[in-house]
Amino acid sequence: MTAPRLGVGMVGHAFMGLAHSHAWQTAPRFFDLPLRPDLTVVAGRDAQRTAAAAERLGWRSSTTDWRELLDRDDVDLVDICTPGDTHAEIAIAALQAGKHVLCEKPLANSVAEAEAMVAAAQAAPDQVAMVGYSYRRVPAIALARRLVAEGRIGTVRHARGLYLQDWLSDPATPLSWRLDKDKAGSGSLGDIGAHVIDLVQHITGERLTGVSAQLATFVEERPVAAAFGGLSGVGDAGGATGPVTVDDAAVFTSRLSGGGLALFEATRFALGRRNAIRVEINGTEGSLAFDFEDMNVLHVYDAHDPAGLQGFRRVYVTEPEHPYTGSWWPTGHGLGYEHAFTHQVVDLVEAVAAGTHPAPTFADGLQVQRVLDAVERSAADDSRWTPVGG
Ligand SMILES: NC(=O)c1ccc[n+]([C@@H]2O[C@H](COP(=O)([O-])OP(=O)(O)OC[C@H]3O[C@@H](n4cnc5c(N)ncnc54)[C@H](O)[C@@H]3O)[C@@H](O)[C@H]2O)c1
Repeated sequence: MTAPRLGVGMVGHAFMGLAHSHAWQTAPRFFDLPLRPDLTVVAGRDAQRTAAAAERLGWRSSTTDWRELLDRDDVDLVDICTPGDTHAEIAIAALQAGKHVLCEKPLANSVAEAEAMVAAAQAAPDQVAMVGYSYRRVPAIALARRLVAEGRIGTVRHARGLYLQDWLSDPATPLSWRLDKDKAGSGSLGDIGAHVIDLVQHITGERLTGVSAQLATFVEERPVAAAFGGLSGVGDAGGATGPVTVDDAAVFTSRLSGGGLALFEATRFALGRRNAIRVEINGTEGSLAFDFEDMNVLHVYDAHDPAGLQGFRRVYVTEPEHPYTGSWWPTGHGLGYEHAFTHQVVDLVEAVAAGTHPAPTFADGLQVQRVLDAVERSAADDSRWTPVGG
């Protein structure tokens, strides 16, 4: 029997648009979904490029006006894959139009916007409003959360969250929306730091309560790209340059609600680190360590192992007992970057069918936004200890 359809409309069709399109198509091939995603319409800014993207990514129609998605009865869910400055407007309008929403991270560009989005979600309790903190759904990360929740590492004493990239190290890399505060809200902090903030809170089940932070912008002027778009912008505009208005790197110390200490670093200047997301949690009974550059592995240390056999165990997270992996390939065959997005679709579709609210909710996204805001205020005030609001 064919599952009932779930009409999906997506806004934005570049990096995340591609990842999400792939996930919407792949999820029903590997998982037994209660609803059948129907890639109904994709919205972009340029008619020709959006039509070409629809063709390439598998969408049945295209438009240059995202508001069209809200008027269509055949769209049940709006998937927002655009820069942060558009999230609040699109998400609030979609919720008010009766649509479910999946919104890319960070939820918004400010706490005020994120609060308005949470209010819109609360006013639509029968609709799903989920944020795209996709790394939560890497199987090794999901396993880490499970082990902490089961009490396997005891009380959390330390958490370390590092997100290291290097694509901005070259001063000749042109400007793009990610370097424009009006569009991105912040730099490394919100783009990649937000992920490790979310991961540490998710894995530990705790909240960051305050921060002491430093931000730095190492390259303050860059070539103007001929067109915004893509991961790092493309082309140049005849030697013109423009200002970088966001942080290039962020470091901060923090406290967890359970009394532990936490340390964070986010940078796009760590030469040789292409996409290293490193999370380590030390508890009273054991430790967990993860690095996205070896994403199928979780390192587990159990303090109860017999003397002489103690050490980090390298758990290859591809067994049927592990989160999500049983629906994929045989044991040991490994997963990649795109699979977390597929798992995000699976959990989202199941929640829509069940009438539940999948995490991370907009309220979870707001909490991360409050941490980002506290980091910026602390850094602007000589690293003063700054409680996380809310
Ligand atoms: N979950 C993750 O791991 C992850 C990874 C990368 C990016 N992101 C987030 O996804 C979002 C998009 O990032 P990206 O890397 O895909 O950016 P991108 O530059 O690759 O794509 C942005 C897309 O949005 C479209 N767009 C911009 N303004 C628009 C508007 N007003 N109306 C319609 N379309 C518009 C552009 O045409 C483009 O198709 C951001 O919020 C980013 O932080 C999340």
